[in-house]
Amino acid sequence: MGSILIKTEIPGPKSRIIQEKRAKYVASPMGSLASFYAKEGHGAVIEDVDGNKFIDFTGGWGCLAVGHTPEKVVNAVKDQAEKYLHTDFTAVPYEPFVDLAKMIAERAPGDFEKQVGFFNSGAEAVENAVKIAKGVTKRKGIVVFDYAFHGRTLLTMTMTHRAMPYKYIYGPFASEVYRLPFPNSHLNKLKVSDFEQILEDRVCPENIAAVVIEPIQGEGGFNIPPKGFLEEIRRVTKKYGIMFVADEVQSGYGRSGKFFAVENWNVAPDLISLGKSIAAGLPLSAVVGNKKYFDSLPNSSIGSTFGGNPLACRAGIEVINIIEEEHLLDRAVHLGDIIKKKFNEMKGKYPAIGETRGIGALRAIEFIKDRDTWEPDSDTAKAVIQEAMKNGLILAGAGIRGNVIRFLIPLVITDEQLNEGLDVLDRAIETVTK
Ligand SMILES: Cc1ncc(COP(=O)(O)O)c(C=O)c1O
Repeated sequence: MGSILIKTEIPGPKSRIIQEKRAKYVASPMGSLASFYAKEGHGAVIEDVDGNKFIDFTGGWGCLAVGHTPEKVVNAVKDQAEKYLHTDFTAVPYEPFVDLAKMIAERAPGDFEKQVGFFNSGAEAVENAVKIAKGVTKRKGIVVFDYAFHGRTLLTMTMTHRAMPYKYIYGPFASEVYRLPFPNSHLNKLKVSDFEQILEDRVCPENIAAVVIEPIQGEGGFNIPPKGFLEEIRRVTKKYGIMFVADEVQSGYGRSGKFFAVENWNVAPDLISLGKSIAAGLPLSAVVGNKKYFDSLPNSSIGSTFGGNPLACRAGIEVINIIEEEHLLDRAVHLGDIIKKKFNEMKGKYPAIGETRGIGALRAIEFIKDRDTWEPDSDTAKAVIQEAMKNGLILAGAGIRGNVIRFLIPLVITDEQLNEGLDVLDRAIETVTK
């Protein structure tokens, strides 16, 4: 027997009652992927309030590398909840904050001493990385890339590519944010070596505090940089005294088969922003980077009331323990191999699949209408997500045109659950495209 169990129509009767209440009281632009409401989640499975069970390939938009409610995290959080919930580290400090900082600093790439600051959300981590870069370099400009997603605050929304829905008419946007093209073999013919010239053409490098890049673009559709691109950014940023900020909010924490995604390319950024999977779903984010940069900033110039909350830090410590004890980096590679094989099979069967790509367990399928023009097919991607949902599989969309399905699977998923979910996806594509 598999993990999926669908007993009612989706959404079921209890979900529909909650939905009515929600429609009245919850801010309506805060939409949800699923039409049903969660009751429990364990490992890679979510049960809804009507008793339906779904395999979760989305993991709360990539926050659950260690799965739903891992026992060690739950126990640590319970233990912490009975001791103290909050002191504000900047008022009365506590050891779990220091211990988690040590664990992250010791694992971050680069042959230099590192320090860690904790915040609440991914956007806040990116904002702080930029703030640090500006403080260190005393420059104003920020370089970002096409298809990037960095968050929804004023600065990070400005840094994000996609206008609808993220930026809409919510300007005026932050100033001094410059967007450069991201090499993409289907959409432009840029070479890695073009980067320096494009930078010089569009900005004055001496005014740039940081180049911020997702080592593997998440929301943009799991776009993998071409060979040598991150290394070239490292070389050019060093040459011009610009800080290299890797936004690993989505790609970090083991999904790529390495703890930090940049480790796939052997580059050491000056600063890395982390979030999502860092605390198994508790709100926590971080910036890890070269100690000398933190040391050059005024005391109290970065911080946050709830940043590095004790519950989240205790959870974060257990997340790293689980990743290491359960060899989840190797597991990401193993799961990625299973997905890749199945994706290739599906690509052979369904002409609507233009490309399958990924690293480790970060895998995506891109739907297109035409292989010559590479015209995106978001209708098919959306219909497949809906069809899969009805049959017990939660999938996340992505891509600047919404024509990509990305896998953000819990790395603790069993092979059986992964294969069960892949079969649902296969049948959904068949149903939608036949
Ligand atoms: C690469 C990247 N940066 C930043 C963010 C923003 O994170 P948050 O939604 O926690 O603010 C996200 C969220 O999807 C992300 O994928």
